[in-house]
Amino acid sequence: CGIIGYIGKENAVPIILDGLKRLEYRGYDSAGIAIMNEKGFEVAKQKGRLTALEELIKQRPIKGYIGIGHTRWATHGEPSDINSHPHVGSKNKIAIVHNGIIENYKQIKERLEQKGIKFVSQTDSEVIAQLAEYYYNGDIVETVIKTANALEGSYALGIMCLDEPNKLIAIKKDNPLIIGVAEHGNFIASDVPAILKHTNRVYYLNDKEIAVLTKSGVEFYNMDREPIYKEPEIITWSVDSAEKGGYEHFMLKEIMEQPRAIRDTIQSVLANGDNGKVIESLDVTRFSKFVITGCGSAYNAGVVAKYVFEKLCRVPVEVELASEFRYKDPIIDNNTLVILISQSGETADTIAAMREAKRRGAVTLSIVNVMGSTIAKETDYTLYTMAGPEIAVATTKAFSAQLVMLYLLAVTFARKLGKLSDEEERKLFSEIASLPDKVSEMLKNVDTIQKYATTCVGYKSIFFIGRNIDYAIALEGSLKLKEISYIHSEAYAGGELKHGTISLIEDNTLVVAISCCERLYEKIYSNVEQVISRGAKVLFIGNCIKALPGEKLEIVNIPVINELFSPSLSVIILQLFSYYVAANKGLDIDKPRNLAKSVTVE
Ligand code: G6P
Repeated sequence: CGIIGYIGKENAVPIILDGLKRLEYRGYDSAGIAIMNEKGFEVAKQKGRLTALEELIKQRPIKGYIGIGHTRWATHGEPSDINSHPHVGSKNKIAIVHNGIIENYKQIKERLEQKGIKFVSQTDSEVIAQLAEYYYNGDIVETVIKTANALEGSYALGIMCLDEPNKLIAIKKDNPLIIGVAEHGNFIASDVPAILKHTNRVYYLNDKEIAVLTKSGVEFYNMDREPIYKEPEIITWSVDSAEKGGYEHFMLKEIMEQPRAIRDTIQSVLANGDNGKVIESLDVTRFSKFVITGCGSAYNAGVVAKYVFEKLCRVPVEVELASEFRYKDPIIDNNTLVILISQSGETADTIAAMREAKRRGAVTLSIVNVMGSTIAKETDYTLYTMAGPEIAVATTKAFSAQLVMLYLLAVTFARKLGKLSDEEERKLFSEIASLPDKVSEMLKNVDTIQKYATTCVGYKSIFFIGRNIDYAIALEGSLKLKEISYIHSEAYAGGELKHGTISLIEDNTLVVAISCCERLYEKIYSNVEQVISRGAKVLFIGNCIKALPGEKLEIVNIPVINELFSPSLSVIILQLFSYYVAANKGLDIDKPRNLAKSVTVE
């Protein structure tokens, strides 16, 4: 989510709306704004894109010199007007905007409800406004300290109190928040781009530091309410690069965010999170088969998952393109579990496949990134990947989050089916839990692949080969390359080469080979030799490679892990490869020609 606040000499409404526009990349399922003026709080909030909020404000104008705004990416409670921020307590005294997740919100909510406080939303954030009002004793700074001490989880907060109308309060823990100071007033914001138009003088708030903003200045305190001194920093970035966190494209930023996306997704299952509860509640013993469906990369995640589910659960799995599944008179019934994978939750073909599955009585489970989307709402069981908003058309972090969600699902199912002991389950979970650190290590050193990619811009066609689960991830590597670099490409199972593709290999064709299944190393290596002897160059990515590099052979070693989870590592190199090839061609990476992020037509 993105938050912004302003206190100063100018009308806060246009300033906040403009800031929200710059923060929309942090979340776009709803937006809201609260202004404090002589009438009290005036709040406008609206589900959907920011333009919907702008329209609302045009019809019902509001004005004031202090206000807070929020653009939301739902994590608790689906996107709706009521669940949008800002939240105001039931006494109408305190208004807040929040970015983060309050882990103990249920306990706080219950406590306050017992005291007769009525909640209006399903969000974790509303408890902050209600609790602050409950604690309020005429001193907003003290109240904020007390409230923050009761919260577990993460937060960046902007707070206004009607009884102290000349102050805007900010505090944070584990979520970013900056304070900006300008001639005409002062700001709080999640990120620099929201305020860069007004000022480049900012303070970075540290965890559990409180900022008290007035029209003319800002003071900082620690949790003991002692004043602290902070130095402002001068920002030299352009607005555009600030939005991308300093990266040249959203795609690269999102590639770099993968350790966090994977970690949060794992946590949502293993740390007693909502996803874990959904998985536990499913009676998996009743299914005679699983069908996995989706489009594009989501389909590729399904192909990877087939290997994992079949190996661990010993239940047959069919993977179908959603656009084919819907028209093929599928053989499914109420003993079939249909798993729908979709980042957006709005892909037309996947929605149609879901409805077809339901019509035939199958049980449906979705893995979706956008809370409250059509697929999330209509399936019997919904699991949310914790990738956060993905802006680049070519998916990276949402795909990685889908993979780990599928692994976690497969391992839990296998244990429930009696195919794994508790001990074996624990071991597999701990391997999955090692992924974020391994990905993080890989992302620290991208030089080799970056340099290699610069030599690949001239290829007309590039082949990807692998065996077993390496073949599954080769499909995704090939798709990524096609999508953003416009180089023709095909993924082939290593063993199938001799039945077709090998006729296309000639001098200086590029073949990308993947080898993370050690038991099949000799097999894939013999494919590598076959193509090299026909003139190809090979980029060999793996964790069990014994060959030595040569003029025709570039090797990229990646960390060792159980082969079932290795696609999460090999895909990182494949993403970087595609990204740097496209970057070297100077293409519009975040918005490739003819493609759309979410395809809502058939
Ligand atoms: C579009 C995108 C792909 C994506 C596919 C499925 O074609 O360009 O990158 O994989 O849709 O989208 P979904 O939102 O259902 O995952």
